[in-house]
Amino acid sequence: MAMIPLNSLVLSGKRVLVRCDFNVPLKSGAIADPARIDASMDTIRYILGQGGCAVLCSHLGRPKERSPELSLRPVAQYLSTMLGLKVALAPDCVGEVTLAKIESLAPGEALLLENLRFHPEEEKNDADFAHELARGKQVYVNDAFGTAHRAHASTVGVVRFVAQRAPGFLMMRELEALRSFTQNPSRPYVAILGGAKVSDKIALLKNLVTKVDTLLIGGAMAYTFLRAQGKPVGNSRVEEDKIAVAGELLAEAARRSVTVALPIDHVVANSPDDEASARVVDEIADGLMGLDIGPRTVAAFIAAVSESRTAIWNGPLGYFERPAFSQGTLKVGEALAGRSETRSLIGGGDTAAALSGKPWSHNFTHVSTGGGATLEYLEGRELPGVKALEV
Ligand code: 3PG
Repeated sequence: MAMIPLNSLVLSGKRVLVRCDFNVPLKSGAIADPARIDASMDTIRYILGQGGCAVLCSHLGRPKERSPELSLRPVAQYLSTMLGLKVALAPDCVGEVTLAKIESLAPGEALLLENLRFHPEEEKNDADFAHELARGKQVYVNDAFGTAHRAHASTVGVVRFVAQRAPGFLMMRELEALRSFTQNPSRPYVAILGGAKVSDKIALLKNLVTKVDTLLIGGAMAYTFLRAQGKPVGNSRVEEDKIAVAGELLAEAARRSVTVALPIDHVVANSPDDEASARVVDEIADGLMGLDIGPRTVAAFIAAVSESRTAIWNGPLGYFERPAFSQGTLKVGEALAGRSETRSLIGGGDTAAALSGKPWSHNFTHVSTGGGATLEYLEGRELPGVKALEV
């Protein structure tokens, strides 16, 4: 199924509803990392440059009702600075006052609608709400790749109420990158997987085990796999009800001759908050908790990465928020970033956050702006927000 390219639409004088993912991290009310906003700037600039009236909308956080701390006001200010033109914040995303503001926009002007999730109807994909959201717009552009795995009113329901629809440039970039990694990847093909829970990654593992040559598993989820192998894990986080499935995944990997590397040494501590007690061990004794991969594991993971031609990464390899437990993630990240021969895909969310802000952070082939959306794509699932754009 095809999508109509944004640059084939006539936008001049049209009111264009642009669904963005401005769900950015906030610290004391200020934007802590504007990467997701920056990633949509070319789409917004293009629409304005074509003489369109850009009606921008997004969710922020997971409010259950209107809550001032999750207002998109800081985003409106940031957009105004970046675009060099005033981007006002509408008091709501629907309603007569907002509609009047939208109708008063001149070509080349932009307005930001208030947080879509101030209305519970958004997440319910409510048809009346979607209809309201579409009122007064002639074109719908979805640039919110990070929200493409959600079937919400602004990503799915709205589509049938607007005459024309197209993906934004960020949406296209993300989909092209993911396609290029998953269709005919150069081999060896390595997946680096981490994060807290096996349960979040079962579908991903089941799909990847049929595709990759090597699986490198770190993060807290590695301890469930180690338990499945009968190894001691002390007080490390283990999902008891997922030990069996972890064992089955290891057996499936063996059947398919996929190499699986689990941690062979560990950075342990008395507790996640006790960085002072951090030390390296080969075997985790009772009472201790594994919180990062150890240096021998780092070397083994780097060796695998250094032979790869394609690498995808989902989930940090340790409790990276604490410096004492961040080294595994950072060292493997630096090695991968330094591999010009390897095409590297970094999943968004925690993975991108863990690997950002370093001198080498820009050397990966593609850092996705979508955490959950990338995960679902790599699981082989259809993204409803993408499907809705097809014609
Ligand atoms: C994300 O941050 O992954 C997206 O913005 C989607 O947010 P959600 O998980 O709250 O739906």
